[in-house]
Amino acid sequence: MKYEAVIFDLDGVIVITDSYHQKAWKTSALEFGIDYKDEWEEELKGLDRRESMERLLKLSEKLLSKEEKEKFLHRKNELYLELIEGLNEAVVMRGVKETIIKLRKNGIKTAVGSTSKNAMRILSLIGLTDLFDYVSYGENIKKGKPEPEVFLNAAAHLKVSPSKCLVVEDGEAGVKAANRAHMDCAYLS
Ligand code: BG6
Ligand code: MG
Repeated sequence: MKYEAVIFDLDGVIVITDSYHQKAWKTSALEFGIDYKDEWEEELKGLDRRESMERLLKLSEKLLSKEEKEKFLHRKNELYLELIEGLNEAVVMRGVKETIIKLRKNGIKTAVGSTSKNAMRILSLIGLTDLFDYVSYGENIKKGKPEPEVFLNAAAHLKVSPSKCLVVEDGEAGVKAANRAHMDCAYLS
């Protein structure tokens, strides 16, 4: 096999949390007088929380003050954390756990590459924390997808050259990030 490491996106690849993100954005947006449209979901996928909010405000043509923006971000995450509390091992995408175990048995390193600052909480809820050699996520990077940092950070910690890493992604921003990191990318649509 050409690859020495596989880096998995979390939201939408390991576990389907997109509807929770969407619900939390929609509810908090309404509270701040913003008209949220479901069709914006794809555009927000993979962007970090602040970037998602800025995109949302642009799409809805709504202006918020600096203080309101902070409150909006806080509220969205509060709602999101409430929603994910129900996650457990049963919601892991079919085949994911088996695939990771198989890769590791074959000497392939595994990592998570996620923009989410809640990645560790989610991995703990679904019982997968120990399956990865490294978790590159919102709290240990500066710039989220589509910047390549999240994947390059994972490769550096795994001590694997980017050309020998395969990224598994479901979002456009993540595919761009993988391309910019000069890594091959398997896209799950
Ligand atoms: C990504 C999701 O994984 O994490 C985005 O695809 C989300 O939709 C981003 O905005 C940031 O998540 P969090 O948990 O830090 O708000
Ligand atoms: Mg994703």
